[in-house]
Amino acid sequence: MAIANVMDRDQVAEAYGRWAPIYDLVFGPVFRQGRRAAVRAAEAVGGRVLEVGVGTGLSLADYARGTRVVGVDISEPMLEKARRRVEARGLGNVEALEVMDAECLPVADASFDVVVAQYVVTAIPNPERALDEFARVVRPGGEIILTTRIGAEAGLRGTVEKWLMPLTTKLGFRTEFPWSRYERWAARAQSVRLLERRALPPLGHFWLLRYGRLADPTSDQS
Ligand SMILES: C[S@@+](CC[C@H](N)C(=O)[O-])C[C@H]1O[C@@H](n2cnc3c(N)ncnc32)[C@H](O)[C@@H]1O
Repeated sequence: MAIANVMDRDQVAEAYGRWAPIYDLVFGPVFRQGRRAAVRAAEAVGGRVLEVGVGTGLSLADYARGTRVVGVDISEPMLEKARRRVEARGLGNVEALEVMDAECLPVADASFDVVVAQYVVTAIPNPERALDEFARVVRPGGEIILTTRIGAEAGLRGTVEKWLMPLTTKLGFRTEFPWSRYERWAARAQSVRLLERRALPPLGHFWLLRYGRLADPTSDQS
C-alpha cells in the first residue's frame, strides 16, 4: 500500500494557516533556545539576513537592531502575525515580510550575507530545492544557518518516523529526514561546506547546522 507522505505547497500553506492562531503557544517556548542559537550564529556573520519560513516572527526581536532582516514565508496568516509583532515591538531593522516560496525565491544571487531557516527544512515539500536556493542567494563567504530535526537513518526510530509521515504531512512537516539527505545535498551542491553541526534541545532530535558558502566553483578565479 502506498504511503500518503507526499507534501505539496498548498497543503503546507493551508496547514500553517490553521496553526497560525495557536502557533506561538504550541511552538514558542519549545524551540526558543534553538532560535536564539541560530540568531547568535547569524549575528556572528552580520550584515543582511534572509529568514526563510519566518512564521509568526518569534525570532525577530532577537536580532541586533543593526542587523537588517527580510522574512519570508509561504503562509500569509503566519506572516500577518509576524507583521503585528514587528509593529508592536518597533523592529525597524525588519526590512520586509513577504510571501515567498523557499523553493523558488525571487531574490538576486548572492544578495544576502546570511540565510537563516529555523525548523523549516522539514516543512518544505522539496527540501533540496530550497537548500539550493539558500546557497544561491547567500554571498560567497556568507552562511546558511539551519535549525532542523534530523530523522533516523534506520532502526525502530526510522520505522516509526516513516509510519508517522501520513499524519505529520497533514500537519505541515515530515518526520522522516535523515542526515544522509543533507550530506548528499552538500556533496552535490559543491558550493557549500559544513562548518558546524550542534545538538539542540529538546529530545536530542534537533540540530543547528552551519554551512559556509564557498566561491562558485565554476567562476573564473584568475
Ligand atoms: C515549523 S514552522 C517554523 C516557523 C519559525 N521559523 C519558527 O522558528 O517558529 C515552519 C514554517 O515554514 C513555512 N514554510 C513551509 N514551507 C515553506 C516554503 N516552501 N517556503 C516558505 N516557507 C515555508 C511555514 O509556513 C511555517 O511558517
